[in-house]
Amino acid sequence: MSYVVPNEAPAPRFDRVLAGQKALVTGASKGLGQATAIGFAKAGADVLINYNGDRAGAEETKAAVEAAGQKAVIFRANVAKEDEVAGMFRVMQEEFGRLDICVPNAAHQLNAKVDEMTLAEWQGVIDVNLTGVFLCAREAVRAFKRQGIDRSVSAAMGKLIFMSSVHDVIPWEGHANYAAAKGGLMLFMKSLAQEVSHLRIRVNSVSPGAIRTPMNVEKLTSQEVYEKLLLKLIPNKRIGEPEDVAQAAVWLAADQSDYVCGTTIYVDGGMCLYPGFIGAG
Ligand code: BGC
Repeated sequence: MSYVVPNEAPAPRFDRVLAGQKALVTGASKGLGQATAIGFAKAGADVLINYNGDRAGAEETKAAVEAAGQKAVIFRANVAKEDEVAGMFRVMQEEFGRLDICVPNAAHQLNAKVDEMTLAEWQGVIDVNLTGVFLCAREAVRAFKRQGIDRSVSAAMGKLIFMSSVHDVIPWEGHANYAAAKGGLMLFMKSLAQEVSHLRIRVNSVSPGAIRTPMNVEKLTSQEVYEKLLLKLIPNKRIGEPEDVAQAAVWLAADQSDYVCGTTIYVDGGMCLYPGFIGAG
């Protein structure tokens, strides 16, 4: 018996499980942030679209959110800057009147071997990928506490969904700053979940593997690298699509996951399953 393994994602589905909710997504001008913002809109949420550099990408996200029938507001802020993050949450309040879902997604990679890594490369990644998440999470928890629970919108006081990575558990040589930030993010997420779950603030992470985003562009344009990645590192033998991740974020934001606190959903086609052992253990 032989099997044909389809190398395609199933059609994404976003039912209106977030109707009436207001979401803030950082780094929403491209990649996972863009797909998540659009997924939220298709599920019925209005969205504040944060970007830092790519205004055109943010406009694209806005058009897609509006095409889904939802309100979109674009706000430029560097998430590593305390005053800019505070300003963004003020605009969230002014424009949307509340905050139900916050996805601190903005992240970047500055790759180098440790002995060649500059302090700026270390700090640049920690500032955005870890400190930026802290600054957004702090403002989100403050906003959730100020507004309390509105059960007509959600059973939760608020939801924080961190965009982590398989590299919160898989070491990554040449990317130690990135792996350190994501590993740190995992215990930040769990510690915060422990701190605020009694208030019905739900804090969780999505940890994507290799997804078809601009961050992975070189892996996807080189057939050789793509094949190596696909065949050796991903047991289910397809690259992830941004919508695979967006659908997990929608579920974590919806009351369907009301009893899910302080956990990480790996959306990685099995990348965390030590695929190097397949046929070699
Ligand atoms: C990185 C990608 C990488 C993936 C799996 C992600 O966190 O952003 O560049 O392909 O992990 O290694």
